[in-house]
Amino acid sequence: MKKTVIINSKIEPYIKTIQSISGDKSISIRFLILASLAFGKSVAYNLSNAEDIINTLKCIRKFGIKVKLKNKYCEVYGNGLYGYEYKKNISLDAGNSGTAARLLSAILINSPEYIKITGDNSLKKRDMKRIVDPLKEFGAKFRLKKNTLPLLIKGSEFIRPINYRELRGSAQCKSAVMLAALFAPGTTNLKCAKSRDHTELFFKNVIKVPIQIKKNRNFDFIKIKGKKIFKSFTYNIPGDISSAAFFIVLTILNRDSSLLLKNININNSRIGLIKILNLMGSKITFHNKKKYRGELVGDIKVKSVKKLKSIKCPRKLNSSAIDEMLLLFLVSSVAKGISTFSGLEELNKKESKRLDWGIKILKMIGIKTKKISNHGVKIYGNPNLKLRKIYRIKSYLKDHRIYMLTVIAGLTLGGKWIINDPDAIKTSFPSFNKLVMQLGAKLN
Ligand code: S3P
Repeated sequence: MKKTVIINSKIEPYIKTIQSISGDKSISIRFLILASLAFGKSVAYNLSNAEDIINTLKCIRKFGIKVKLKNKYCEVYGNGLYGYEYKKNISLDAGNSGTAARLLSAILINSPEYIKITGDNSLKKRDMKRIVDPLKEFGAKFRLKKNTLPLLIKGSEFIRPINYRELRGSAQCKSAVMLAALFAPGTTNLKCAKSRDHTELFFKNVIKVPIQIKKNRNFDFIKIKGKKIFKSFTYNIPGDISSAAFFIVLTILNRDSSLLLKNININNSRIGLIKILNLMGSKITFHNKKKYRGELVGDIKVKSVKKLKSIKCPRKLNSSAIDEMLLLFLVSSVAKGISTFSGLEELNKKESKRLDWGIKILKMIGIKTKKISNHGVKIYGNPNLKLRKIYRIKSYLKDHRIYMLTVIAGLTLGGKWIINDPDAIKTSFPSFNKLVMQLGAKLN
């Protein structure tokens, strides 16, 4: 594809159905990692075809794990928890994926050799201390500079279980410790601030290792007994709500439109965007809800909204909307009143400094914003916003979500948009450009 996309006109109204959106990225990565540690042939349907997943797949192949991939159908031939072939000088490239880098590090606490993990320019800027610290406690050894990639990790013959507190609300940190706990004798205890719970659901309902989960309002208490082998499994991966999110917001901001999105993962720990949008005046509904492997899956119906209200975003919803936060900023910019978001420290630690870039983009389109203490922002919405100028969007470390966000802005707010790096979508949602065009968008 070209290096730039130009949007010259708003999208026309539509009434459409999206039958299938790419498979959930978080679940796809967990599928590959856990299948590589299971005994026998595991199968996934609708595995995400995003680069983050392909990079994870290439990494597990380096340990002698056979993986067959045909479109979105995948077979992984695991050799059990202790079945990796560790050679000298193995180097893993996690590409753009923080989840892959952090979760793969965790399962290497068993490696007798030093393994190198690296990534692209964006991933090399991201903090690895958050998983290096707990993995060291399990017994792993690390060589790294400035707490960033590239790093070298070597496991230990004497892995010990740990007690771990996760206070950021990071599912990657929680999951890294949970994966490492599989190799530890005895019980690993976690106390975690709320975050997406796919790993817990996988442990409980798919690989069925001994896990105990207790929840209170603010924390989840998890106990895992390690050293239990598990068998291969089949997983039908539902659509990714974080990809669906762009189409939900496109429909809300467009005129006289409605959209049905089929077979999406609507796990409660992932639907912050929908809860917040409904508080802002939308009436998004779920249909055909069913439980699959502990995950809630269903169809999502969404319609255009004429009058959007501002929001004081409840902080407790931040983690369940963290990848969708900039879409909420965009909706707030055309809502009536002042919206407030706070406690967004983690947002600047993603693929790019999303909090800073989000504010910059709103300013560029003439929306008043004010930074507030505690990593927050006030957004002064303008329901009459009509754009007429030329808006140039650079690539912000090729951040896929910033590219898709600005396409949605261009298609709903007017003006001429020149947006760099359409290829950024490959990271998480390769069919994004094709799908918006199927809804009638003109991307030149
Ligand atoms: C992910 C967790 C989230 C999210 C990321 C995927 C996961 O990060 O931003 O895109 O699959 O566990 P943290 O929960 O670690 O902040």
